[in-house]
Amino acid sequence: MTFVHQPVMLAEVLAALEPRPGGRYVDLTGGGGGHTRALLERVGPEGRVLALDQDPEAIVHLTDSLGSGYPGLIVRRSNFAQVDEALMSVGWERVDGMVLDLGVSSNQIERSGRGFSFDRDEPLDMRMDPSSPETAMDLVMRLPEGRLADLIYQYGEERGSRRVARAIVWARNRGPIRTSRELAQVVRRALGRPGPRPRMDLATRTFQALRIAVNRELDQLALLLTKAAGLLQPGGRLAAISFHSLEDRLLKQAMIRRPEHFDASGGPGLLALYKKPVTPSAEELAANPRSRSAKLRVGTRVG
Ligand SMILES: C[S@@+](CC[C@H](N)C(=O)[O-])C[C@H]1O[C@@H](n2cnc3c(N)ncnc32)[C@H](O)[C@@H]1O
Repeated sequence: MTFVHQPVMLAEVLAALEPRPGGRYVDLTGGGGGHTRALLERVGPEGRVLALDQDPEAIVHLTDSLGSGYPGLIVRRSNFAQVDEALMSVGWERVDGMVLDLGVSSNQIERSGRGFSFDRDEPLDMRMDPSSPETAMDLVMRLPEGRLADLIYQYGEERGSRRVARAIVWARNRGPIRTSRELAQVVRRALGRPGPRPRMDLATRTFQALRIAVNRELDQLALLLTKAAGLLQPGGRLAAISFHSLEDRLLKQAMIRRPEHFDASGGPGLLALYKKPVTPSAEELAANPRSRSAKLRVGTRVG
């Protein structure tokens, strides 16, 4: 199976991290390996890149596609929230830089068969880590209507969340909602017809909300951000790409805006390298639609 994913804001990530020959870096979201490969090229034969992913398919792909060409590559299946343990397992205390490219890969959306896309008829699963306990179907079938509505509102920023939750409960009382297509139809029916030129599918926000909930994406990101600064060398950088406002808010909050706001008594911190997030160039937006909502924030370790 070929794995498809085009790395987002690669040049900007490299400009921010300035990977040095012989350095040690972590790709917290290895995926298709685009950022990993570029880091490996920059660190050269003396350098090392540790690539993490929670999805076993990504781990196989990273190992198969890059393992033989780059002896400096180390691959670990791990949630990035446990990056401290992953570092310990390879005997590293601190690294020169980390890259984080959040969300799902094109491969997961288009080929994993795990129901990430409302365009496909696949089991309603949505787990990036197939060993985690609860699928999207479990959530959709289990949660009370009010909790479902809150989740869809909070994680999907869906203004019609109450209507969607009511429709889901109505549908599930008639039988299990087993597939991504079934769920998409329930959501679309609940929200009515899109305008003459719909900007996005009516099911988009509900699917985003369920994916975030199933993978506990915001909790995992928040936990990573409590650890990241302490695992960087002084001056080391975290380059983080997010794809929606909930993630971007966490990244923004984790980065201090001005050096004088840094309180050394709280341990090491991240100082924002840029005041505003960097967004993709016009060329990249034209070439890769997935980059559309990407925002890059970079933090440098202080303290
Ligand atoms: C957008 S893709 C990364 C693509 C990669 N940068 C590239 O250029 O090919 C995100 C990847 O991160 C993984 N991922 C998402 N959340 C994760 C987490 N909490 N821990 C580990 N991996 C995660 C997903 O499984 C997916 O493979």
